[in-house]
Amino acid sequence: MNPPKTDARRHHDPEVRGFASDNYSGVHPEVLAALTLANGGHQVAYGEDAYTENLQQVIRSHFGPTAEAFPVFNGTGANVVALQAVTDRWGAVICAESAHINVDECGAPERVGGLKLLTVPAPDGKLTPELIDRQAYGWDDEHRAMPQVVSIAQATELGTVYTPEEIRALCEHAHAHGMKVHLDGSRLANAAATLNVPMRTLTNAAGVDILSLGGTKNGAMFGEAVVVLNQDAVSHMKHLRKLSMQLASKMRFVSVQLEALFARDLWLRNAGHANEMAQRLAEGVRAVHGVEVLYPVQVNAVFARLPHDVSERLQKRFRFYFWDEAAGDVRWMCGFDTTEDDVDAFLAALKEEMAR
Ligand SMILES: Cc1ncc(COP(=O)(O)O)c(C=O)c1O
Repeated sequence: MNPPKTDARRHHDPEVRGFASDNYSGVHPEVLAALTLANGGHQVAYGEDAYTENLQQVIRSHFGPTAEAFPVFNGTGANVVALQAVTDRWGAVICAESAHINVDECGAPERVGGLKLLTVPAPDGKLTPELIDRQAYGWDDEHRAMPQVVSIAQATELGTVYTPEEIRALCEHAHAHGMKVHLDGSRLANAAATLNVPMRTLTNAAGVDILSLGGTKNGAMFGEAVVVLNQDAVSHMKHLRKLSMQLASKMRFVSVQLEALFARDLWLRNAGHANEMAQRLAEGVRAVHGVEVLYPVQVNAVFARLPHDVSERLQKRFRFYFWDEAAGDVRWMCGFDTTEDDVDAFLAALKEEMAR
């Protein structure tokens, strides 16, 4: 039952939505219902519960019979645990300069994971074999951290997507150099929805060894999973998750959320809807003179360049972030709960502010 609108315990207006991030949204009602279902009674702690067991079957239905899911609290944790699992103490990770692991994780891969990140500029957020080669050398040189992993994000931080062929080429290239491949799939659902392919096509079928599978941005309250796709590439996942402080004692409540998203098609419905809203937004923005859409809009993000003062006025009406403030670049993101009316109201406000 929904609490009455006047409930004094509610401290926000549930009708207000912005375009700041897909993690500003609440929890999808089906996920909330699943959490309630998992409540009550006692279940074994630390992942020996019936929900986590069932989650393994769900994950295997997507990624094949040898895939193994390790639920964790958040995306940064998933990345740090996954990367440690495929590196030695002297290992380094090749990634795009714009990668979340490089710019948005407070140095956790370096400080918590003890990893060196070897970055390359990637104008559209995507690595290529040629870009990887800028850092893929010196395996025998004890003076250099050893490149052992290539980490890519699908979708990228710039809202672009790799085709399955592009991922396969990257994996073949990395493997030919003895490196493994990690995929930050915080928005893997959105990429799969855009490309209309199973998640498997973008991951293990293309050669990815280990995956950070997103849940939060797709409608969970919290929770992601490290999914081991290539068992031979990985060691000591259980221990790494615990020492990285990502082992939930009441794990059933992380697992049941992921089960709710991935057991049927909720993940795809949510991602597909968020992507559609971004398309609607981009189409509207392109019709506004003086506003430039910066990258191909392939998932649920629209990056745009517009006059700084317009953005500042617009931010008073709708929440969103500057991406590169000096350049006047902003990021507008849609979520599973963004409505057509939200998009249309935002576009109307944008037009008004541009005309002022
Ligand atoms: C591509 C990408 N990876 C990882 C994360 C990390 O997620 P969290 O904020 O849960 O640590 C994010 C969150 O914004 C992200 O966009």
